[in-house]
Amino acid sequence: MDTDRLDSEARAILKGNDRGGYTIPTAGLYPYQWNWDSAFSALGIATFDPARAWTELETLLSGQWDHGMVPHILFHRPDPGYFPGPDIWAGRGPIASSGITQPPVAATAIRWLLARDPAGRDRAAALFPGLLAWHRWFMTYRCAGGRIFVTHPWESGRDNAPDWDGAMAAIDPVGVAPYRRRDTDHVDAAMRPTKADYDRYLWLVQFGRDIDWNAAQIARDCPFRVADPGMHFILLRATRDLGALAAALGQDSAEICGWIATLEAGAEALWNPDLGAFDAFDLNSGARAGALTNGSFLCWYGGIDRPGMRAHLARVTAALPHGLPSLDPADPRFEAKRYWRGPVWAVMNLMAGIGMADMGLRAEAEALRQGTARLIGENGFAEYFDPVTGAPAGGGAFSWTAAVWLAWASPSSQGG
Ligand code: DGY
Repeated sequence: MDTDRLDSEARAILKGNDRGGYTIPTAGLYPYQWNWDSAFSALGIATFDPARAWTELETLLSGQWDHGMVPHILFHRPDPGYFPGPDIWAGRGPIASSGITQPPVAATAIRWLLARDPAGRDRAAALFPGLLAWHRWFMTYRCAGGRIFVTHPWESGRDNAPDWDGAMAAIDPVGVAPYRRRDTDHVDAAMRPTKADYDRYLWLVQFGRDIDWNAAQIARDCPFRVADPGMHFILLRATRDLGALAAALGQDSAEICGWIATLEAGAEALWNPDLGAFDAFDLNSGARAGALTNGSFLCWYGGIDRPGMRAHLARVTAALPHGLPSLDPADPRFEAKRYWRGPVWAVMNLMAGIGMADMGLRAEAEALRQGTARLIGENGFAEYFDPVTGAPAGGGAFSWTAAVWLAWASPSSQGG
């Protein structure tokens, strides 16, 4: 593996996707600032330009709404190549935006940056109140019985995961205005969500927009309210990191400690004994999804270990060499190339791997890191990968894959 060449290719991707203060995921398919993409991009940018990495997160937080939510897309500049754009969303923040959030990686990214760039302490301190307000928004509007739920599949970041199938099937997408997708102009439709998914995605956008994105009403009445293990563990991790930031910055952390206790208890409620795994739960119907996904495998990242999850990990990684598939290959719903129904995603490998190393699964974590390095080294900086063949899928020259390479997978990131 030519580490120097791959390192410089990854840096070139992140620089090429820089639009001035924020980084797009990839040109064409995703031409705006996406929330969790941006936080991961910052980890990669920090390896060659820490000052610019701080800016990435400052730009993200500058789109925060009054009630604390940080939107999943910030539409800094118009781009007709993406649908649905700012006019469809009609967000209510200081910058044109969507009306939902995305997995909160920012506190984790800021703690990561501060550890590598202590000179950024003032910038971390300036970002802290916004992070605290965003986490408080999650605990107020996205927490039921300790479980973190999403009100749109896009909020989870795992758009078409089987976790949402039951709740999506219950929606009759009547009254969706005629629309034309743009994603399939850029990427093979077989690698993307289906039309049935898109009809419901748009129906849910209309639902939120029609009630002016009233957060309390959405939390209570949305026809789609699904507790998400991926979101749950990412928030739990980020809340622990927020607590560490509070300590480093001399801030009070009592409220944050309370959230951690709530989320630890909520994780127990996500355990599905029939599946022997952490699983999504439909708050409206009371049904579990019965899906072992790479969201389930983020338990260690959230600081929670279970022998049953270790057993699944051993079985799944023995079958597939490239890291964690987005769905158990033994599940009849598995599709190797369709987005979040099978493919491997480098950022999920990174989070799971970091969590495993923290929780003492060192050999497994190192195997996952090396498998991710081989996958990227042999197949490029794709959006995601076929977990059976390793073939690249989705968009190319992808920021978060480049960032995962630089921050974690590359031998150079390990001092080697
Ligand atoms: C998309 O447009 O596919 C995005 O995932 C929505 O966030």
